[in-house]
Amino acid sequence: MPLTTAKKPLAKTVFPHKDFISIADLSCDDISHVLDLAEHYVVQNRRMSQINALLKGLVMINLFLENSTRTRLSFEMAAKRLGAGVINMTAEGSSIKKGESFIDTLKTLNAMRPDLLIIRHSEENSAHKAADILECPVINAGDGTGEHPTQAMLDALTLRRHFRSLKELNVTICGDILHSRVAHSNGILLKKMGANVKWVGPQEFLPPSLDKATTSMEEGLSGADAVMVLRIQKERLQKSPSFTEESYFRDYGLTTEKLALAKEGAVILHPGPMNRGIEIEATLADDPGRSLITMQVEMGVAVRIACLDLLTRHRR
Ligand code: NCD
Repeated sequence: MPLTTAKKPLAKTVFPHKDFISIADLSCDDISHVLDLAEHYVVQNRRMSQINALLKGLVMINLFLENSTRTRLSFEMAAKRLGAGVINMTAEGSSIKKGESFIDTLKTLNAMRPDLLIIRHSEENSAHKAADILECPVINAGDGTGEHPTQAMLDALTLRRHFRSLKELNVTICGDILHSRVAHSNGILLKKMGANVKWVGPQEFLPPSLDKATTSMEEGLSGADAVMVLRIQKERLQKSPSFTEESYFRDYGLTTEKLALAKEGAVILHPGPMNRGIEIEATLADDPGRSLITMQVEMGVAVRIACLDLLTRHRR
């Protein structure tokens, strides 16, 4: 959509969900609704001022119990653009370090009556637990190997802006699929929206349940319009991998040469953080003609502004 024609869509529509935990909970209409509103906020976020005071007087807790740069900062940026106050919390410096349980921590936060909770945690299902305890809307910012729904939304927005539609788009997801919440959320979203998804990686990173999965880069990349590259989730590996970083880069690292196996003009995405020279060649990552990685980061702010707006509408 050309930026100049972006309108504020569905300004009064109430989003039919208290929380945003999993892409699986959303209909195609819900997904389009978030993307259309985010499109409006892309334009707004480029202006040099607070967008509006929609969330003025509200307080958002950003509970990040795993490291993060893009996701944490973009949620904070999104909240501040809408005029909300933000409290950042990590395990470091909190009573979690004194042995307080996760559930007790959640009950404590709920008792303070925040207006929004963003949560990142190393355990799958942790965001569901938070949504059960917190009375305010909860957004899953990554739960272990489970889901990362706002990442899938920002990837979808990036792809939709580049290709205009997700329908019939051929997307190949490459690398550590088994441990990647980004892959899980993207797989659900892209299929719901009519894209064709293929998976490629070493056997040990391919969950047995996947269809259209291959260990052959040639097969996996052929016909791809877009290739989404994943970081090896070292922090989640149960055993040492069967390869070295050098052999992984040789066999699965995405390079300009390997990208030639995809469609002409195919683009690349990466959720970040990147390990250059392991899953992706540095020059390809930086190639403005092929890489949408910087655009993904920008779309992350717009998608999160849209999510904060939608999930707080019932209160305004
Ligand atoms: C991803 C995550 O945390 O799942 N990063 C992100 O949110 N942009 C991917 C990763 O850490 O590899």
